[in-house]
Amino acid sequence: MKIAPSILSADFARLGEEVKMVENAGVDYIHVDVMDGNFVPNITFGPSVVASLRPITKLPLDVHLMIADPEKYIEDFAKAGSDIIMAHVEATPHIHRAVQMINQAGVKSGVVLNPGTPVESVNYVLSEIDQILVMTVNPGFGGQSFIEETVKKIEELDRLRKENGYRYEIEVDGGIVPETAEKCRKAGADVFVAGSYIYGAEKPEERIQALRSVLD
Ligand code: DX5
Ligand code: ZN
Repeated sequence: MKIAPSILSADFARLGEEVKMVENAGVDYIHVDVMDGNFVPNITFGPSVVASLRPITKLPLDVHLMIADPEKYIEDFAKAGSDIIMAHVEATPHIHRAVQMINQAGVKSGVVLNPGTPVESVNYVLSEIDQILVMTVNPGFGGQSFIEETVKKIEELDRLRKENGYRYEIEVDGGIVPETAEKCRKAGADVFVAGSYIYGAEKPEERIQALRSVLD
């Protein structure tokens, strides 16, 4: 099981230290939430922040694009040093093209489903991707409550990959604390994003340990 702290809840004035701190605590990915103020009602950062983080950590940068027309920026995010790039199916009429572009850029590819979006919307790209991100809150902000209905979607995706031999890992994002992480793990999730639970704590290392204890 992999833990991916979301830097959305980190102190942006000390971003490098915040990344190193979770790396030293033994996490697996750094989850980077890119928001454009259009696809979601919040704005964060772009490729230059990814490029600044690249030399300071060995961990894979797991880039979650919450932007309209993600195809326009895939090359920029790949060149900036992303290891995994994920596009929302709701953000483009051309999700297959977006996945092709990510694969051609030589990085791992992923698609993202909002809580209200069914698995059927990505059936025809499931064989092409390395990761599928199941949003367990509506995207845009940290600190929201986990939406229970999304657990069924994780089960469905786990069943589909077993039946078809797909390679993707299932990532969950939003409202992840030990209790919800355990539910998602039982449903088949492999990668667990946590923002406020980790960075909102006085001792983030203890929170990472608490997540580990329900995941391993
Ligand atoms: C929400 C982001 C998440 C967010 C999760 O739009 O995609 O990655 O940081 O935050 P928490 O863990 O606080 O729900
Ligand atoms: Zn995210």
